[in-house]
Amino acid sequence: MVKIAPSILSANFLNLEKEINAAEKAGADMLHIDIMDGHFVPNITIGPFIVESIRKTTSLPLDVHLMIEEPDRYLMDFINAGADYLTVHYETSIHLHRTIQQIKECGKKAGVSLNPATSILCVEYILPDIDFVLLMSVNPGFGGQEFIPHVMHKITALKKFIRNKGLSTLIEVDGGIKLENAKDVVSAGADILVMGSAFFNSNDYRALIKKLRKNIGNR
Ligand code: DX5
Ligand code: ZN
Repeated sequence: MVKIAPSILSANFLNLEKEINAAEKAGADMLHIDIMDGHFVPNITIGPFIVESIRKTTSLPLDVHLMIEEPDRYLMDFINAGADYLTVHYETSIHLHRTIQQIKECGKKAGVSLNPATSILCVEYILPDIDFVLLMSVNPGFGGQEFIPHVMHKITALKKFIRNKGLSTLIEVDGGIKLENAKDVVSAGADILVMGSAFFNSNDYRALIKKLRKNIGNR
């Protein structure tokens, strides 16, 4: 079954606990948390300290998306804060294999993210070691952007690439996903849908998830 991961980037941070609890009650499968450092991306968000607080208020798996330079410096902080899924960007990691090993040794799910312009071939030799690939369908840094149409082909190509290798690596897609395009994203091969603005800007999270599941054919 396709997993739905609301991104708290678009939540009301003054009511973060309420927002997270509402997302959980509405049927979200995991919680996507965007970590931005103002270097790799032009925006700054939150650090391990807040992730630790979030961990205390929900039993949802925490899907921590690191959009930071030198991710190795902070891996353990986010793992100790309670991350279950940890994603590093291909573009930020020099010793990607070592980084992934470290995440796996801690018993966490490891993902590699690719910016829209980064080729899927870049993950070829790390695919067997990771649990998922996070394809960015917007340029990372902000919520509320439009889905970049050609990423749809990238999802299809990656799915084929994974299958041809006999692997079961999951595909997570992040950026610009809404009710209207979710079906195509899933048909192309997505296993995890990140949804920020379309989720938290809706006024009924439960109804939204219900519609979403219907649109994607309960897959
Ligand atoms: C963007 C973030 C996304 C963002 C998605 O850099 O990685 O997770 O929250 O937001 P929407 O769904 O609004 O594009
Ligand atoms: Zn993200």
